[in-house]
Amino acid sequence: MIKTVLFPVAGQGTRLLPATKSIPKELLPIYDTPAIQFGINEAIEAGAERLVFITHPEKDSILKYLAHDIDAIETLRRKGKTALADTLDATGVPAGVEVALVLQTERLGLGHAIMLGANHVLDGPVGVILPDDVILGASCLSEMAQGYSGGHMIAAMEVPEDEVSKYGVFDPMGERMGRMQRSSGIVEKPSPEEAPSRLAAVGRYILDPSIFRVLKKIPKGAGGEYQLTDAIAQSAEVVGLTAYHFTGTRYDTGNHEGLLQAAQERRRLLQD
Ligand code: UTP
Repeated sequence: MIKTVLFPVAGQGTRLLPATKSIPKELLPIYDTPAIQFGINEAIEAGAERLVFITHPEKDSILKYLAHDIDAIETLRRKGKTALADTLDATGVPAGVEVALVLQTERLGLGHAIMLGANHVLDGPVGVILPDDVILGASCLSEMAQGYSGGHMIAAMEVPEDEVSKYGVFDPMGERMGRMQRSSGIVEKPSPEEAPSRLAAVGRYILDPSIFRVLKKIPKGAGGEYQLTDAIAQSAEVVGLTAYHFTGTRYDTGNHEGLLQAAQERRRLLQD
């Protein structure tokens, strides 16, 4: 049902300097595997047919990572290094899944990056994965897709009051139904006093395609950037907005602490 998944990966990654001087944060390893691979796997599990990567010209090593390098895999197999060949075979984007690349030459915000993907989407609702939000455990986009019945849906988790200003925060409406919470709107990075709840958005979205029309018209928002949250808030009244309480555990690998914690959990999961 979710044929297209957009991966906005043009950000500068300043919170992870100095590593991100030369390595995109999406390629930093979560113990053994680059962060972006977890997002790719999630999109594939959710049934995506086309993955659209919106990136910055400086981050061309991401493109190299996406390639499914048949020659390198075959060479390893010929040398009898089967386990390594299998590892390489399971990385990048699998054969049969389309890849589209879009350059965001000016970093004008997440909303702008998503808008640039507009001409590359297949019909139907559009998935978005921010791969620096690594979610370990059950595949988040798949469970969202199973519960999805229209409008915009965003993965959600409760955060402490003093952290609401780091997130988009939902304005919940009525009772929670299982994992789903209808919401009347969402506010980007509110102060604790202004926040409508402690229910925060994390980097998985299923968007009604009407979002692209809205994105073309929104003004710059928080931080002087075009905010995806503002476009979602604007169209929530028309198409509906659902916060989805996902089952996995989310790590913000765009900061040092989150990167380390994700790596430790990944190692624990591999050893189990
Ligand atoms: P972040 O808020 O994490 O910003 O972006 P950032 O630039 O990547 O990292 P810091 O804050 O400087 O450390 C959220 C998501 O939006 C993408 C990023 O790549 C990330 O997936 N993004 C952000 C873009 O693709 N383009 C932009 O102009 C801004």
